[in-house]
Amino acid sequence: MEYRQLGKWGARLSVLGLGSYLTIGYKVDEDTSRRMVRTAYEHGINFFDTANAYHRGEAEKVLGRCLGEYPRSSFFLITKVFAPMGDGPNDRGLSAKHIREQCEASLKRLDMDYIDLYMCHRPDPTTPLEETIRAMEDLARQGKILYWGVSEWPARLMVEANHIAREIGARPIAVNEPRYNLLWRYPEDEVFPTTIAQGIGNVVFSPLAHGMLTGKYTPGQPAPAGTRAADPDQNAVIMNLYWNEENKRKAQELVAIARELGTTAATLAIAWALRHPAVTSVILGTSRVEQLEENLKAVDLNLPQEIMEQLQALYPPPASPART
Ligand SMILES: NC(=O)c1ccc[n+]([C@@H]2O[C@H](COP(=O)([O-])OP(=O)(O)OC[C@H]3O[C@@H](n4cnc5c(N)ncnc54)[C@H](OP(=O)(O)O)[C@@H]3O)[C@@H](O)[C@H]2O)c1
Repeated sequence: MEYRQLGKWGARLSVLGLGSYLTIGYKVDEDTSRRMVRTAYEHGINFFDTANAYHRGEAEKVLGRCLGEYPRSSFFLITKVFAPMGDGPNDRGLSAKHIREQCEASLKRLDMDYIDLYMCHRPDPTTPLEETIRAMEDLARQGKILYWGVSEWPARLMVEANHIAREIGARPIAVNEPRYNLLWRYPEDEVFPTTIAQGIGNVVFSPLAHGMLTGKYTPGQPAPAGTRAADPDQNAVIMNLYWNEENKRKAQELVAIARELGTTAATLAIAWALRHPAVTSVILGTSRVEQLEENLKAVDLNLPQEIMEQLQALYPPPASPART
């Protein structure tokens, strides 16, 4: 395993992390979850990603139990706050109240003493940035979190937040968590250059575009049974962002390029995301141990220039302005 520094900060994360959205604590049973966590850990993964909102706390509970087998100092845990956790007016967002209460609740669900990095899952335009930054700083001073970060925040908001943090003597943002894959290259435009300039690391999610980049969805065919795209409980994002005949056709070309290299489309797509200098780590989502074993091979995959050019031609950067 290779480890990269979290932006300019001292912590070192494995270049692949294991996530828990729609999988651990939801669609994947606890025994398989435990085996996936063990496989990840034994391959040197030291970074695990979850959120309070993943199945309303269930992902944190199951991931916490799986990680309970390992020394706390040996892994880095991200969890998040923002999405609704109840029906009350203060059960969501980035107010000081909700941040404080959800941090306590996450620590209980995870059965941990501290969170390595606490993340604002999305921007909250209804709360002043200063309130959110102070709430994060307070948690850090109380020893409940070590770093804080943001997910899917636009570049200008990260710059503004770091400016306010400096003014009030609070910790700036340590990490950003954007969506990034061959079909979603928007962060390359503004987000990556800004985070590099600010010393912010990037742990990127959905490297396989919810499975579209594996090639398992073929043109003219419905999603095979048992896949994320076939399950109405979990296919909203893939249907909204990636599901069309062109993407299915391109994925078959990706499979062919991968074959030239002696690898799979999934492994190649993950290695591609890892090659960007702004990326600290790529967060994997897997529903089976075998998928994880396949995806882990990305760490050792070299991408020759000729392959990079083929990928650039197949998945050019977007012509439209940056989204997020
Ligand atoms: N910050 C945020 O807002 C945010 C948002 C989304 C995700 N995340 C984090 O990022 C992690 C990864 O995101 P993601 O789940 O969207 O990642 P992804 O890699 O785009 O999709 C993962 C899914 O693709 C399929 N898959 C994975 N490897 C495969 C393989 N080798 N062969 C065939 N199918 C394979 C599996 O679905 P099936 O087997 O069910 O088809 C798996 O659950 C999440 O767990 C979460 O921790 C964060």
